[in-house]
Order: sequence, then structure tokens, then C-alpha cells
Amino acid sequence: MALARHTPPGPEHKDAADQNFDYMFKVLIIGNSSVGKTSFLFRYADDSFTSAFVSTVGIDFKVKTIYCKDKRVKLQIWDTAGQERYRTITTAYYRGAMGFLLMYDITSEESFCAVQDWATQIKTYSWGNAEVALVGNKLDLEEERQVPTEDAQRLATELGFQFLEASAKDNVNVKQVFDKLVENICERMNESPNGDTSLPAKSKGANLQETPRSGSQGGCAC
Ligand code: GTP
Ligand code: MG
Repeated sequence: MALARHTPPGPEHKDAADQNFDYMFKVLIIGNSSVGKTSFLFRYADDSFTSAFVSTVGIDFKVKTIYCKDKRVKLQIWDTAGQERYRTITTAYYRGAMGFLLMYDITSEESFCAVQDWATQIKTYSWGNAEVALVGNKLDLEEERQVPTEDAQRLATELGFQFLEASAKDNVNVKQVFDKLVENICERMNESPNGDTSLPAKSKGANLQETPRSGSQGGCAC
């Protein structure tokens, strides 16, 4: 785990060059194409939103430094392409990730049905000890909702994930999602014998399935 206390950077430095932090956490945003992953990251990191859809090619990242209790945490947030054709590239980045935002779109049942598959991808390609937050984005489109909150909450509980609905557009629960994820990563790290998230710690109920389950699970009709 990166632990640094270097000379504080000058005001001209941006977050990416900031070496003054206690921990560095790598977090990935995953989920189907068009659920709003890039929008969510831009809202969080830059407080901006655009309704234009420019599908992500491969992978990109932004850095944001926040506080968790008295610790300065540098978040390296990787925004992955949801399109299947980039899967080989994006899954290569799962290794070493301490947290995942697994996103679906509350107006797209298809994106929710894919959640179990994404959970399996985490299980397959990550180090197996990551905190995962299930995020139902586009909460501002309530009238077009296809995924009931209770179904998503049930699935999150089954999988041992935290859960929140949010809107990148209206800036609802965006900061809260990241704050909670970071808090959980910190907690997990403190549970680990030498404070290293890369070591297997108590599973805290994480229940990732090796193979996708069908039918009634989470109320998904796919
Ligand atoms: P890929 O890069 O292809 O994986 O897609 P993505 O998940 O990054 O989706 P992106 O953030 O590019 O958003 C897709 C579309 O949804 C864009 O037109 C966004 O403006 C829109 N969008 C994103 N978040 C919201 C939201 O909270 N509410 C609404 N109404 N639209 C949103
Ligand atoms: Mg994108």
C-alpha cells in the first residue's frame, strides 16, 4: 500500500501529481455501455455533466484526493469502456483494485441483468478482496424506471455489495457513493493483519458467484 509523506506540492500541481497522501486507492468503474460511468466520474472529479454520449474507448482515469477521517486518500479512479469489444483491455486493470463501482441504469433492465456477470468478472480478474458498490444511475429519470429499488437492494445484499441509487446529471449521491466506498476500504484495511488491502481479509459477507445465476435472482426477468 502506498504510504507517502513527501514535501507538500505547490499550488500549480494538480491531484495527479500530488504526492502528499497517506493512502492511494485504485478504484474501477464498471458496467454496461451507456449506464453513465464516464458521466459519474466527471461529475465527481470535475463537477461537470454533458448529455452528449461519447462512448469510452478502452480505459481512462482521473485522480481525486479526499479525506477519510484524518487520512489523506489519493483516489485513482479508472473509467472503463462498457462495450464488450474492450473487455480484454479493461479486465487487465482489475488486478490490485481495492474498490469497484458496479453501475447499471435504473431505466435499463438489460443493464441490471448484466450485474451478476460483472460481479463474476470482478471475482475472476480482481485480487478477490475488493469493496464493491452497486450503483443505480439516472435516478432523475424516475418516470422511465425499469428496475425497482427493492430488486437492486436485494441483489446487492446477496452479493455483499453496498448499494445506492444516484444521478450523475442531478448530482444526487455521487459524492456519497465514493465516500462510502472509501470508508469501507479503510475499514477493511484496518481489519487486515498489517493494514494491507491486497491481503485476504474477512470477507464481510462478500458472496460473488462463480457463474451467473438465472431467473428470479434480484428480480431480474432476463
Ligand atoms: P461507455 O463509455 O460506452 O461504457 O458508457 P458510459 O457508461 O461511460 O456512459 P456515459 O457516461 O457516456 O453516459 C451515457 C449517456 O447517458 C450520456 O448521454 C449521458 O449524458 C447520459 N447520462 C449519464 N448519467 C446520467 C444521469 O444521471 N441522468 C441522465 N438523465 N442521463 C445520464
Ligand atoms: Mg464511458
